[in-house]
Amino acid sequence: MCGIVGFVGKKEATPILLEGLRRLEYRGYDSAGVAVYDPERGLQVVKTKGRIQVLADQVAARGGLRGQVGLGHTRWATHGAPSDVNSHPHVSENGRIAVVHNGIIENYAEIKEFLQSTGVHFASETDTEVVAQLLEYYYHGNILDAVTKVIHRIQGAYALGIVCADCPDRLIAARKDSPLILGFGEGFHVLASDVTAVIEHTREVCYLDDGEIAELTADHCWVYDAYLRPVEKERRHVDWEISAAEKGGYEHFMLKEIMEQPKAVRDTISPRIQDGRVVLDGVELTPEYLKNLDKIYIIACGSSYHVGMAAKYTLERMLRKPVEVALASEFRYCDPIVTPHTLALVISQSGETIDTLAGLREARRLGARVLSIVNVVGSTIARESDNVLYTWAGPEIAVATTKAYSTQLAVVDLIALYCAGQMGTVSRAEYDALLAALQAIPEQLETVLERREEIQYLASIYFNHPSVFFIGRNMDYAVGLEGSLKLKEISYLHSEAYAAGELKHGTISLIEPGTLVVAVAGCGHVFEKTMSNVVEVKSRGADVLGVTVDSRREAMGRTVDHVLTVPDTETALLPSLEVVPMQLFAYYVALMHGCDIDKPRNLAKSVTVE
Ligand code: G6P
Repeated sequence: MCGIVGFVGKKEATPILLEGLRRLEYRGYDSAGVAVYDPERGLQVVKTKGRIQVLADQVAARGGLRGQVGLGHTRWATHGAPSDVNSHPHVSENGRIAVVHNGIIENYAEIKEFLQSTGVHFASETDTEVVAQLLEYYYHGNILDAVTKVIHRIQGAYALGIVCADCPDRLIAARKDSPLILGFGEGFHVLASDVTAVIEHTREVCYLDDGEIAELTADHCWVYDAYLRPVEKERRHVDWEISAAEKGGYEHFMLKEIMEQPKAVRDTISPRIQDGRVVLDGVELTPEYLKNLDKIYIIACGSSYHVGMAAKYTLERMLRKPVEVALASEFRYCDPIVTPHTLALVISQSGETIDTLAGLREARRLGARVLSIVNVVGSTIARESDNVLYTWAGPEIAVATTKAYSTQLAVVDLIALYCAGQMGTVSRAEYDALLAALQAIPEQLETVLERREEIQYLASIYFNHPSVFFIGRNMDYAVGLEGSLKLKEISYLHSEAYAAGELKHGTISLIEPGTLVVAVAGCGHVFEKTMSNVVEVKSRGADVLGVTVDSRREAMGRTVDHVLTVPDTETALLPSLEVVPMQLFAYYVALMHGCDIDKPRNLAKSVTVE
């Protein structure tokens, strides 16, 4: 979702801003713009609907933009359609103040009406423009004073980057509920929505917290609270290699990230297994605490929610404690039953999804302890949790998540084993078998990936089916949800996932000759049941692509049109393997449709608005 980058220093800002925007492309956007302060011509703005290259071409057509302080922005439209005029930066009517924004100003309509009544003319339909105009309204020679007045007047979520032509040696930033980081370098400072935009220039960063304001010049950085009292910030070193955010010879980031899964899962589990036991350092899940646990509430969105769906089966079976899985956007408004004995398990790749963050805060407010599973180190969700377990997937760039999903599953398995060990709810033999199976997953993932040509071939057979249903039971159902999401995200085909037994309660009316059904049937204890449902759709003319384990290839092959298999493993771990054919199938189908795989239409990697 919207990306912000800002630069102030002793070098030309524009190339740094454009490069930063390219690195933020993965967040999802529909338009882009830059504002640079040119000492001779004042604030210069170029902005346009479309890709960064369109923006870069327009900048070049103007002979470049000169200046050593500036802001860049990628916009994912919320208020006002994607258009040149609605793109950021937005500038106050007299051209003095330029603003970029990520988030939503919820009371923008009321402020806009007020400003219009004072004679201000608005150029765009956006909520962001009210910030630029309101800053001008409150500006009486001191931009920081104006910023504090504005942040006390606006409601909603914002990460703001601001340049004022009256103090052109500095950038101002402010944040509430939308991510913003500051980067420190020799003779320059940067600000950005996330580290990928700045990692080329610096690895020393700090994370702005809610209500904070930053003032950056080439040589100094000051951070204040919302009342302009100075705040000391802790600097952090970012370890990510820049190569991790590059394609490394693959056609798409998505394929690269699919192929990285064995390593990502290995990196995530290995350090947490010592002497035949799972060790979760710094996680306060004592036998006493676990004994008194009344419920685990999983809170997440999108694919992370699907990890939660799989986790419910594993955790309930192994811990014999109730697990509820909530979509974060529902949880936050559903008056949830949470007590001090509830463990909120928050799952998020980015650590910035606004609904998930709000769900975390609600769970904490109600007294729950929060354990989060997060990929982005130092993200807001990680910082606001009581305990965090990081997935060591490295930067994930493709919008459609793959390696983050797999590593989240691996962390869930570690938590299940750890808690079961603490509570004594599984036998030593079962514990050992599960742990050994978990350690075998990276190698088994390699085996599945070696079979990708077969998956590509099947994608070439099925890619033209306009409508696809994924069915499965138990863990297989959870995997079907993710398989279906992957397909619709990147290939734009209509697809739905159903618990196989539920199909006959309505949805089976949609099955007709030629409909594609992907039947996931790895779980041994429900295999025959799922196969009965496969027979039901087959007898109505569906084409069926089956996914199961190697040992059931033959059994499944007797009923379905084609079978894909993954190595046999413990039931609890099946999703880790079964999801890979789903990812690759979606990838190759999208490839055959010529889709923009890494940047699918309308989608954002990090969803920072409600
Ligand atoms: C977006 C992404 C999905 C992701 C979801 C939740 O919709 O496109 O891939 O699963 O957000 O994101 P999170 O970062 O909280 O896991």
